[in-house]
Amino acid sequence: MPETSFPDKIVVARDLIKRYNGKAVVNAVNFHVHRGECFGILGPNGAGKTTTVKMIYGLSPISAGELIILDMDANRCSREIRKHLGVVSQDNNLDPDLTIWENMVMFARYYGLQPDRTGEHLGRLLAFMDLADRSDTKVETLSGGMKRRLAIARSLINNPTLLILDEPTTGLDPQARHLVWQQLRAIKKQQITILLTTHYLEEATQLCDRIMIMDQGHILDEGTPENLVSKHVGPAVLELGLKGEPVSWEKRITTSYPQLLKGSWLLGNTLYLYTDNGSRLLQEVQNMEPPCYYHNLRATNLEDVFLKLTGKDLKNVDVV
Ligand SMILES: Nc1ncnc2c1ncn2[C@@H]1O[C@H](COP(=O)(O)OP(=O)(O)O)[C@@H](O)[C@H]1O
Ligand SMILES: [Mg+2]
Repeated sequence: MPETSFPDKIVVARDLIKRYNGKAVVNAVNFHVHRGECFGILGPNGAGKTTTVKMIYGLSPISAGELIILDMDANRCSREIRKHLGVVSQDNNLDPDLTIWENMVMFARYYGLQPDRTGEHLGRLLAFMDLADRSDTKVETLSGGMKRRLAIARSLINNPTLLILDEPTTGLDPQARHLVWQQLRAIKKQQITILLTTHYLEEATQLCDRIMIMDQGHILDEGTPENLVSKHVGPAVLELGLKGEPVSWEKRITTSYPQLLKGSWLLGNTLYLYTDNGSRLLQEVQNMEPPCYYHNLRATNLEDVFLKLTGKDLKNVDVV
């Protein structure tokens, strides 16, 4: 169980900077993570997500600014901080030659726990992650989803106050991803503070209480998924797949209905029209008869927020 003596703000970053070869890849970011919440850093490849969490778990010293974790300075107290963290890195970092059980025992030893006294604890964690009947299986033979679940089970060995997950479901198939989500929800219920990075909008929406959108080392905005959507794009979007002259159609439509539109975005031939009144906008636009391959009126989501803030479609951003 998490300790209750810790502060309300588990992580506080002030003007936090990480430079590589003189270039700031995390560029003066400010954020905090509250106790008990699931906080998500959402952004494309190269945004600075991994660098940010590596500074938090002490693998990468900060270049400038301030980073306070559990009331301790990240650079000066990294060993003490590590005792209270659970970390699941993107590469899992498991020993492939050992079995599931041996991986757990090895990690327990790392924390100075005696396996004979903690056997029950390790068994419970494996059962919790649905791996109990596989404990004698060698890690190299496991599926990607099982490896990830083992990495999560292992990260819980020291009963962490803060659990950090770097892209917890990247590379997993949808079924394995949903299983991991289900288990992360169960971890959330135990009041463990979670900090996760992701480039999956659905993951951020499904799991996170608050989200920070990051791109090229900067924070573009943060808030609950609902707040971000209502602040930036409103409830509905009309997508038009235009057959020709997209720029002039955008201009025509946006100048005809300024009062109906909260904003617009043109990506290739697709025009996104954000509005508070979807059915009315659809009717008006249909009267103008723009040549379209398709039109689609739908509820907005974080994808639209991301598009508006970055000009990029996260689904099509190259992700490693
Ligand atoms: N050890 C390193 N040395 C030099 N540049 C790095 C190093 N690690 C990351 N970077 C650069 O920092 C930027 C942010 O990387 P990263 O934090 O891994 O982003 P993300 O996790 O969001 O994909 C990238 O441009 C990456 O190339
Ligand atoms: Mg990364």
